[in-house]
Amino acid sequence: MSKTALITGVTGQDGAYLAEYLLKKGYVVHGIKRRSSLFNTERVDHLYQDPHVDKRDFILHYGDLTDSMNVTKVIQECQPDEIYNLAAMSHVKVSFDTPEYTANADGIGTLRILEAVRLLGLTPKTRIYQASTSELYGLVQEVPQTEKTPFYPRSPYGVAKLYAYWITVNYREAYGLHASNGILFNHESPIRGETFVTRKISRAMARIALGMQDCLYMGNISSRRDWGHAKDYIKAMYLILQQDKPDDYVIATGVTTSIREFIQKTFAAAGMEIMFSGEKEDEIGRIVNIDEALFNEKIGKDYIDAIKARMKNNPVMVKVDRNYYRPTEVDLLIGDSTKARTKLGWIPKYDLKGLIEDMTTSDIHLMKKETHIKNGGFRTFNYFE
Ligand code: NAP
Ligand code: GDD
Repeated sequence: MSKTALITGVTGQDGAYLAEYLLKKGYVVHGIKRRSSLFNTERVDHLYQDPHVDKRDFILHYGDLTDSMNVTKVIQECQPDEIYNLAAMSHVKVSFDTPEYTANADGIGTLRILEAVRLLGLTPKTRIYQASTSELYGLVQEVPQTEKTPFYPRSPYGVAKLYAYWITVNYREAYGLHASNGILFNHESPIRGETFVTRKISRAMARIALGMQDCLYMGNISSRRDWGHAKDYIKAMYLILQQDKPDDYVIATGVTTSIREFIQKTFAAAGMEIMFSGEKEDEIGRIVNIDEALFNEKIGKDYIDAIKARMKNNPVMVKVDRNYYRPTEVDLLIGDSTKARTKLGWIPKYDLKGLIEDMTTSDIHLMKKETHIKNGGFRTFNYFE
């Protein structure tokens, strides 16, 4: 008998990788997608199955975590062995603009799932994974952060996730639900949302190298993050739900890097050396050297003369725009995942170099496609969020 999983947030970065992973393991996967005025399933389109075929193992339901009746109905319909609650308004900066919605979806949304499982009598059957986050540590009280480090969230997103974390623990202790938190540190990939910092940088590097964008505007580039690859992190989610006892785990690489260094490493991956000077809002990043062989290999010989001219005439490629600053910032994240590594046997395959290689290769390919479309006389769009 194959197991049944329900993934909320299946159209997001993690949901898409997890769905693919569970399908390969023989699961029947149900996912909740939101109604939108345009198709919003690009990340899972390769898994899509025609609803008219007899036996499907990937089934999408319309839904929203702000709608209790919908959440209860979907859970009742699919009777899942495992629920992965990945749905969330996941952008920290946007949560300052939409604090109430964020609390509703990210905080109370988790309660709706736990309560539905309980009221439907599924407690003995259904295991629940809650997508908790290193944003809980916020103004960090300890370095590195472990499962025992006190929380101090610094955004409406972090505070909403704090509620979700504790309500998960409470339902486990009060009602015996198999409910666990994965406290995941930042994880990225070629399908990361375009407005998160790593993807914004990776896309901008490809566009600047191909002459499609002039400058990369950034917020606070001094903050530091512990970045892993989403493909490794979704395996940890799976492992957490395979344990006999529910528990909470930190998932991290244990390496922290500043945004500034991430920019330098990303441009260096295509042969461009960036040097920073100035302070705060006046800080700029200039291109100071080009590894021609690497640039030609990664970007192409057709673009080398333009980038050399750029270095001579207009070398500033990175500027700071205070509009990207957050009212309260999380300055430093670095996780200690010893518990996950020893108890779950979780070992990530990617390091930061591998992650950057994967992301830049994909974005260079994507932007070359855009270039061809543009050269063919069609319109392409610029997004600078
Ligand atoms: P993501 O790419 O932003 O995906 C979020 C998903 O949630 C999308 O499918 C989105 O649907 C859906 N969603 C948003 N609001 C919803 C609502 N009200 N009802 C139902 N679905 C809703 O995020 P991710 O990077 O995959 O992260 C997955 C989860 O892990 C999130 O809960 C996030 O907060 C958490 N997390 C992420 C990281 C990280 O570094 N990636 C680290 C720690 C924790 P649309 O596609 O329609 O927008
Ligand atoms: N997005 C963005 N855009 N961030 C910028 C920019 C910019 O132009 N410039 C600097 N930053 C800084 C942010 O201020 C923050 O310190 C850091 O880059 C990382 O920002 P994001 O990539 O937006 O991620 P995040 O760390 O705020 O949140 C992500 O990771 C959390 C786990 O720690 C999200 O995926 C959350 O959902 C997740 O919980």
